Amino acid sequence: MRFALVGAGYWGPNLLRNLLLQKEITSVVVCDRDQARLEFIAERFPRVETTTSFESVLGDREVKAVLLATPISTHGTLGAQVLEAGKDLFVEKPLATSTVEAETLVRLARANGRVLMVGHTFEYSPPVLKTKEIIDRGELGQIYFVSMLRVNLGLHQRDASVIWDLVPHDFSILMHWLDESPSRISATARDCVQSGIPDVAFIHATFPSGVVANIEVAWLAPSKLRRTAVVGARKMLVYDDTENIEKLKIYDQGVRFSDPETFGEFQLSYRTGDIVSPRLPSAEPLRQEMEHFVSCVKTRATPRTDGESGLRIVRALEATQQSIESGRPVDLPAVSS
Ligand SMILES: NC(=O)c1ccc[n+]([C@@H]2O[C@H](COP(=O)([O-])OP(=O)(O)OC[C@H]3O[C@@H](n4cnc5c(N)ncnc54)[C@H](O)[C@@H]3O)[C@@H](O)[C@H]2O)c1
Repeated sequence: MRFALVGAGYWGPNLLRNLLLQKEITSVVVCDRDQARLEFIAERFPRVETTTSFESVLGDREVKAVLLATPISTHGTLGAQVLEAGKDLFVEKPLATSTVEAETLVRLARANGRVLMVGHTFEYSPPVLKTKEIIDRGELGQIYFVSMLRVNLGLHQRDASVIWDLVPHDFSILMHWLDESPSRISATARDCVQSGIPDVAFIHATFPSGVVANIEVAWLAPSKLRRTAVVGARKMLVYDDTENIEKLKIYDQGVRFSDPETFGEFQLSYRTGDIVSPRLPSAEPLRQEMEHFVSCVKTRATPRTDGESGLRIVRALEATQQSIESGRPVDLPAVSS
């Protein structure tokens, strides 16, 4: 199969490297409007063709699917053109910059019978998948809350805030783990470096099951921290993506409240047991992601991170943005996950 990659900036080459590992891929054309990026690609990946013309990609009848790794603000327009040209589409996260745009992409994919997948990479990452398994088999008990931290001295974007850049990861992880979308979001943010483009945000999400989650993201931090804690009634789990080996730790810890037997008696029992770090497969998330997309294109299966799931994440991002602008919590309509 012949595929195209549009956008060969910072992230595009990572997709390309993993796409070229798929045995079904016989040729790839890379499109970028920046000639210098194409020269970089031609040098590093001599097998691929290059072009500055997006129209020539759309008009190339042999191109079965397009991967879009262009800036976030272009996903809606370029993505719609790809689907209208009758090609399958992989869009880097987030699917689009508004619910309206994301809904259009989902509708176009459905109307044209095209595969639409969003690059929510973490849903292909072993520690995230293992955590889902642990939650689903009830090892943590009822989930009380999740606390997420994703900060570093990051690349300041010109067309997107830290919310649209980093929070897609946290929302996709949360929705995947909990099998539900937030019902209420309240957030605050600040544009410390570039006026009008927030580079730090504190987001609080409530889910229909009662789970509450806190997400802190920033491009302005002294060190890279990627730490999530999931606190359940039976056990607690910490997922630290900056760790090389022990990315997950399960703490057999908790507090139990016993009903007082006599008036005035107040009993809490604390449990501190083992800390276990489960073994994780060494699979590279991007490789899994590309393998999945190629397989969906081949078999016409619906991707795990399909347009609908991308749309749910865009809705939550939009609600976050609205809450920041209005200074009030935003309620989201119930959706099936
Ligand atoms: N999954 C992840 O972990 C991850 C990590 C980083 C970036 N991303 C995503 O990847 C996407 C790209 O981000 P980036 O950091 O690589 O951006 P970037 O600005 O470094 O690269 C974008 C490239 O697209 C090209 N481009 C822009 N408009 C074009 C057009 N109309 N036609 C052809 N080429 C065009 C630019 O010349 C540039 O080379 C974003 O959606 C971002 O959210 C995902």
